[in-house]
Amino acid sequence: PSQPAPHDPFATVGLTYDDVLLLPGESDVVPSGAMTRSRVSKRITVEVPLLSSAMDTVTESRMAIAMARQGGLGVLHRNLSAEDQAQQVDLVKRSEAGMVSHPVTTSPSASLQQVDELCGRYRVSGLPVVDDSGVLLGIVTNRDLRFETDPTRRVDEVMTRMPLVTAPVGTDPDQAMALLAQHKIEKLPLVDADGRLRGLITVKDFTKADKYPLATKDEVGRLRVGAAIGIFEDAWKRAMLLVEAGVDLLVVDMAHGHSRAVLEMIARLKAEPSVAHVDVVGGNVATRAAAQALVEAGVDGVKVGVGPGSICTTRVVAGVGVPQVTAIYEAAQACAPAGVPVIGDGGLQYSGDIAKALVAGADTVMLGSLLAGCEESPGELVFVNGKQYKSYRGMGSLGAQQTRAGARSFSKDRYFQNDVAVDDDFVPEGVEGQVPYRGPLGAVAHQLVGGLRQSMFYVGAEDVGQLKARGRFVRITSAGLKESHPHDIRMTNEAPNYTVR
Ligand code: XMP
Repeated sequence: PSQPAPHDPFATVGLTYDDVLLLPGESDVVPSGAMTRSRVSKRITVEVPLLSSAMDTVTESRMAIAMARQGGLGVLHRNLSAEDQAQQVDLVKRSEAGMVSHPVTTSPSASLQQVDELCGRYRVSGLPVVDDSGVLLGIVTNRDLRFETDPTRRVDEVMTRMPLVTAPVGTDPDQAMALLAQHKIEKLPLVDADGRLRGLITVKDFTKADKYPLATKDEVGRLRVGAAIGIFEDAWKRAMLLVEAGVDLLVVDMAHGHSRAVLEMIARLKAEPSVAHVDVVGGNVATRAAAQALVEAGVDGVKVGVGPGSICTTRVVAGVGVPQVTAIYEAAQACAPAGVPVIGDGGLQYSGDIAKALVAGADTVMLGSLLAGCEESPGELVFVNGKQYKSYRGMGSLGAQQTRAGARSFSKDRYFQNDVAVDDDFVPEGVEGQVPYRGPLGAVAHQLVGGLRQSMFYVGAEDVGQLKARGRFVRITSAGLKESHPHDIRMTNEAPNYTVR
């Protein structure tokens, strides 16, 4: 009998963003005319192909709201209780709407202090007042509270009572706007024939729609939001709470997506009737076989990236990973024929990397370090030598895993180490640090999308489909990379889209 062939452990060469450049191609496209619309998952489209990472120093409700307004999508991190994460989804879904179908309300016997707390939590300027059966009694707004000094007073002592200007359920946006303008009011409650509150339309939502024309919205005009879940312990309950709160996208977010438990979780979610309207993304993976397995399990999107992240140490701690351009290319070989979009997650350092990811096969990219310095990311500003920074840490870092007094870490399981009881025994796969403060997301996103538009102009691509079809890489050497960055100059002014690393 012949000897079995010796096992050959060498696969292919892996390339990443710094190994390649896009070839300029013949072009009639102007940057401002390039269309950046793309798909996050089978049913979710974005005007801007950017997602914010599910990390506790990147995406909570404030970042998710800002991302959706800019035309991208935020994925809420899961290093918090299921209830708190569902509450974050609720905050995003209530932040902006064509019509609020379940407005936050108060009762006539509530105190003004309670009203004040609710208004602060949901960032609203007033609340409809309803009785036990939901009948609208009046409305209490900033104006009613402004001159009140006693927070223990009851709502029914200060509210504006019925009759108010209201409209029947089903009133269309144009009619609603006309009523708001005619009566010079800001809130229009919608009521049914029995006088029960059935919705609320606010002038704020109309002005926001004008201000953020690219915003990523669901079919009833609410901002879209994604949320990360795991696979162990309370993951199923978490998913159900998130779905109940109105999440648009569930991301089964594990450091190794090519594992039986991940595939089972995805198949179970896809078979659950109450999740049928929600898209499910699986990850992370870095090979064609893994992407194929996720596709077969029924995912609506595949997230790619094992170890490219700026805060990741997986590749040095475990010696595992695939340089990101090759990882995206390989995953896309399995996903594209199945019509499943690919998210290129991690490793992007400059706006030019976005187009490289798309040409390699991604449909959107997910950003951590490029967004962690934004005003909307969680955490305070810190000053170091007169410069402003924000903290940024890996979800596999010691800090993110530590069971802080009174709180517990919910993301050990991302690294399949939920059986590690003692903090000291945890094997981290990420580090903790700081990134320069970058100001509001709007300006940061403008530069990132602006860079992508320039890429599309150079390649000669009117839209993302053309970019993928026409984009060609040239492989470069370390001398080429050195030539690509500014050289032989002492930089005196920092550009908004370039920092020395
Ligand atoms: P960037 O490069 O955008 O990467 O900062 C963000 C992505 O990195 C992943 N991530 C981690 N990977 N250890 C890892 O190996 C970690 O501690 C860690 N934390 C986050 C994640 O996919 C994120 O979107």
